Amino acid sequence: MVSCEGFDVLDLGCGTGILGLLAARKARRVVAVDVNPKAVECTRFNAEANGLEAKVDVRLGSLFQPLKPGEAFNLILFNPPYLPGKPRNPSEAGWLDSGETALKFLREASRWLKPGGLVQLVYSSLGALSVRQIVEAAEASKLKLVEQKAFRSLFETFTIHVFALREGET
Ligand SMILES: C[S@@+](CC[C@H](N)C(=O)[O-])C[C@H]1O[C@@H](n2cnc3c(N)ncnc32)[C@H](O)[C@@H]1O
Repeated sequence: MVSCEGFDVLDLGCGTGILGLLAARKARRVVAVDVNPKAVECTRFNAEANGLEAKVDVRLGSLFQPLKPGEAFNLILFNPPYLPGKPRNPSEAGWLDSGETALKFLREASRWLKPGGLVQLVYSSLGALSVRQIVEAAEASKLKLVEQKAFRSLFETFTIHVFALREGET
């Protein structure tokens, strides 16, 4: 939804790397993070297979933990796990979650934005959090909603939320 020409992009929960690799075609650089070592391996493989390894820095860890002090991004992407449930292994953590991962993400995301930077979060109507809860959590953490689009799929509706830093916040 957001154009990322020349941007520094953070792809959180990169999985296969699909979002980060698409962004990397236009972005200046992409940092891709996942808590699952297999996802990290897969994203590295896909970056190399697409000749994008020089632009895509893939790191293992939870949420913002693998970032270095002072790093900042024009765009942060996150498609968090959303199906309600308690994961029993890293693979299930790819889709099962209580909603806490998205909330933790929203509490910290603003710290890692450059001035004028944007956060794009995708969430499903099947998830534990309502659209309203997501927007309220973002607004409690220095962010404001600037765009929202809903896409109906077979069993669910996906909402893409785009947030920006509120004026006067750094
Ligand atoms: C729904 S998948 C999205 C994958 C990919 N971004 C996409 O759009 O196809 C969620 C991803 O988030 C990762 N994940 C779950 N909890 C995480 C956390 N605390 N920190 C980083 N990644 C996490 C999972 O391992 C999984 O790869």
